[in-house]
Amino acid sequence: GGESWALCLEAAVTVARQAGVVIREAIKDEKQVMLKSSVVDLVTETDQKVEKFIINSLKQQFPTHSFIGEESVANGQGCSLTDNPTWIIDPVDGTTNFVHGFPFVAVSIGLAVNKKVEVGVVYSCVADKMYTAQKGHGAFCNGHPLKVSKVTELSHSLLLTEMGSMRESESVAIRMENIQNLVCSPCHGIRQLGSAALNLCSVAAGEADAYFEFGIHCWDMAAGALLIEEAGGVIVDTTGGPFDLMSQKIIAANCPAMATSIADTLKEVPVGRDGIQ
Ligand code: IPD
Repeated sequence: GGESWALCLEAAVTVARQAGVVIREAIKDEKQVMLKSSVVDLVTETDQKVEKFIINSLKQQFPTHSFIGEESVANGQGCSLTDNPTWIIDPVDGTTNFVHGFPFVAVSIGLAVNKKVEVGVVYSCVADKMYTAQKGHGAFCNGHPLKVSKVTELSHSLLLTEMGSMRESESVAIRMENIQNLVCSPCHGIRQLGSAALNLCSVAAGEADAYFEFGIHCWDMAAGALLIEEAGGVIVDTTGGPFDLMSQKIIAANCPAMATSIADTLKEVPVGRDGIQ
């Protein structure tokens, strides 16, 4: 029931803050960079160490729960979302930023129950901003309530997106075309800051009006998607249809009209599906 998810939120905040301290220290140091799916898909010892720390800590407190962690999945562990309470963890969202010392990095921890996210925590480590949400209880940053912006016209919007790490030229070409069509639509601007989780927090906070991406993963968006909804925004698929956490794509917007305008403009980029090997 609601009571126990509040305890989970508390546990997630505590562990995210502890992980954030490690990341905030390590961002100053020399990093050993390793590669995953491609030469621009990076991982460091910090990602792996912090993920182990978060999972071990939550497992101790919630031994019956399941876990999906970005680096565990990269190491061949399962990524299946069942009805069992499942923690969905990105130890360092914005690893490329982390490697370069660009300060937009976050710990993202979501808890899904019956495949619906009940708890979401995103900790922006360098800025020391703790974003929290529990379903039905609102979204907060450092305890202050979050509210999405009131802009309804695409022509008045500030948008966020990412190129991600899929760099096949066909796929990049569609992404570029999407950006071109939105810029020419026009919109006020489009930004790429390198952390999907923090992009979602910015929309929840009303600092940007919408965010979209093709090629994102469930651990990048589980927590942030709940923050958006609890701040009064909407999450849909890039086609404008219902959102699917495992679909590797998302539009997060301040209002349905904004989401529809973006969906109507976007051309689909072929992506895979999380949980399929
Ligand atoms: C990535 C970042 C990036 C987004 C990618 C994500 P990671 O997460 O959020 O901004 O474009 O799709 O996978 O690998 O740094 O945890």
